[in-house]
Amino acid sequence: MSDKKQQVSRRQFLNYTLTGVGGFMAAGMLAPMVRFAIDPVLQPTAQGDFAAVAQVDEITTEPTRVEWTIDQVDGWYESEVTKTAWVYKQEDGSILALSPVCKHLGCIVNWAGNEEYPDQFYCPCHGGRYYKDGENVPNTPPSAALDVYQQKVKDGTLYLGKAEPRKEA
Ligand code: FES
Repeated sequence: MSDKKQQVSRRQFLNYTLTGVGGFMAAGMLAPMVRFAIDPVLQPTAQGDFAAVAQVDEITTEPTRVEWTIDQVDGWYESEVTKTAWVYKQEDGSILALSPVCKHLGCIVNWAGNEEYPDQFYCPCHGGRYYKDGENVPNTPPSAALDVYQQKVKDGTLYLGKAEPRKEA
């Protein structure tokens, strides 16, 4: 057995020291970059939030346009976005909140927007039509019903969330 001591040469000492310090500095520089890159992914989005849009006792059986704003975060860009819904009470007293976005090419539909069809939603872009319940009128350009907003009622106030496509029956 050799009792020769393990000697660390000056060159080895410098190599170890510089590698350690270099690695430490590189980690210090990379950590903020990685954090910066993935930060938006870690942020909660406001899309699932509900917004107060109307008092329930003011909602009638006639579709009425309501508007509200939400804070939208897109990466590092924050902006205020105005949302719109057509809201009315159905025959059974339940509330229906329809998206105004046409399912053909995304124009905005209006209730009674064409005097020939006073009981329908009308899309001015290509003459798309929807019945009062949001179902698309056959043989008009839209091929699907208007999206429906998630909703909840609390203390007499209607809150709307995301608009979602209808589930197939
Ligand atoms: S976008 Fe509405 S009918 Fe074409």
